[in-house]
Amino acid sequence: MIDIKAKFTKAIVRMPGKSIVEGLASTSIGKPDYDKALEQHQEYIKALQYCGLEVIILPADERYPDSTFVEDTALLTPDCAILTNPGAKSRTGEIAIIAETIADFYDSIETIEPPGTIEAGDIMMVGNDFYIGLSERTNKEGANQMIDILQRIGMNGFPIAMNEMLHLKSGLSYLENNCLVVAKEFLNEPRFQQFKQLEVSSEEAYAANSLWINDRVLVPKGFPNTKALIESAGYKTIVVDTSEFRKIDGGLSCLSLRF
Ligand code: GLY
Repeated sequence: MIDIKAKFTKAIVRMPGKSIVEGLASTSIGKPDYDKALEQHQEYIKALQYCGLEVIILPADERYPDSTFVEDTALLTPDCAILTNPGAKSRTGEIAIIAETIADFYDSIETIEPPGTIEAGDIMMVGNDFYIGLSERTNKEGANQMIDILQRIGMNGFPIAMNEMLHLKSGLSYLENNCLVVAKEFLNEPRFQQFKQLEVSSEEAYAANSLWINDRVLVPKGFPNTKALIESAGYKTIVVDTSEFRKIDGGLSCLSLRF
């Protein structure tokens, strides 16, 4: 048994479907290989379990090629779940298919309503503070609705301007202990100057989406400098291969909802 500080006890994941090859992609580094994606997803689940999480595994839904990226569909706080409204039209149906599972664990569920759009890959939790990236997927109205809900439950939300990356957490992760992994456009963000920053080079920017879980940090395979940087800050790392999800802009955090 490993000795870990447990903050999260559960995670929800959704199996990738064969339609993952049609997932939204901002680059043309190739289509995901379905069989390889399945293998990598299994390894990811094992890593979550190793970190002490009970993993709720939902079946693939071929109607939604990006639906393995469950993180975008909800913000799970200790007291309340907030269902999002994805800015990507092809992803809006993912809310209806996650809602029932969320209702199994939460009595209090709020929703983001149009014209507000928000994807929770744009939200970084730091204790009771939530930083919300204003990306192409998350508009001001969606962020304002989210901030109103957070304030009603005694938490805080802060909008963050961004121009470059898909989601806020495409270039940022919070490793607890006041420590951020940061890349590219977020390096100079005034709101993040209060944190200790582990600066990731542009070449390894994908690995800025690393994932703290109960005092372990999942790091994507193939980014040795970022792994060493995180380890030098005192964290134990677990390397997980996400090459197939990367092809459609998916990263470690996108693949689960932790709570
Ligand atoms: N392919 C992940 C996304 O664009 O949302």
